[in-house]
Amino acid sequence: MNLTLRIWRQSGPEDPGAMHEYQIRGISEESSFLEMLDVLNEELFARGEEPIAFDSDCREGICGQCGLVIDGIAHGPEVTTTCQLHMRSFHDGDTITIEPWRAEAFPVIKDLVVNRSALDRIIQAGGYISVNTGAAPEAHSTPVPKQDSDKAFTAAACIGCGACVAACPNASAMLFTAAKVTHLHLLPQGQPENLPRVVNMLNQMDEEGFGTCTNVGECSAVCPKQIPLDVIATLNRQLGKAAFQGV
Ligand code: SF4
Ligand code: FES
Repeated sequence: MNLTLRIWRQSGPEDPGAMHEYQIRGISEESSFLEMLDVLNEELFARGEEPIAFDSDCREGICGQCGLVIDGIAHGPEVTTTCQLHMRSFHDGDTITIEPWRAEAFPVIKDLVVNRSALDRIIQAGGYISVNTGAAPEAHSTPVPKQDSDKAFTAAACIGCGACVAACPNASAMLFTAAKVTHLHLLPQGQPENLPRVVNMLNQMDEEGFGTCTNVGECSAVCPKQIPLDVIATLNRQLGKAAFQGV
């Protein structure tokens, strides 16, 4: 495949940045999107030009490290992570536009790499269960209804990639936060800290500069783990309960 790539280049946080155009030839449709960028970087390196900075780690759809806006869609035309997107989703002669996640809370570090530590700080505000020291309790001593454990597992699949934020017109982190809240709220172990968790995580979300959820649904549509929108309803119910109880 021969392709034209329009790629966002930005040397650092203070640089205004701009789109740059590159031609690339002979890309296999079996290669992944990131392998295609690796080939481009090898060519740039050989020409003595600065390679394009982009994030990745596992390249198996597990870690949540990769993330590009491809032709205006977070993670590109397939509902998967950028690292699991393959060039067979494109056609010979295509022009592909590649940008970083766009959100005030995700400042660009360089080129296509953004700082997503705001999501870590939301987790630090309450996305955990405090564990007392001692031996692990016998697993069957805490029964969990099957439908609750299934929903908790679905919510726990969130890998923290931030595509939901990039896709949302308000740059809201509501789907991410609601996935964490729902995962913990549905388990008996998560109940004691449930309401303070909701309030603290949402306060942190606001503090980081993420927008408000207006139920557009773009977040769930691009989510590589298909976190359903109803986790947001779960979070809102818990928030209502917290307000009623004065938490
Ligand atoms: S909810 Fe989905 S899109 Fe958002 S961070 Fe989690 S896995 Fe990524
Ligand atoms: S690099 Fe780990 S999910 Fe894409």
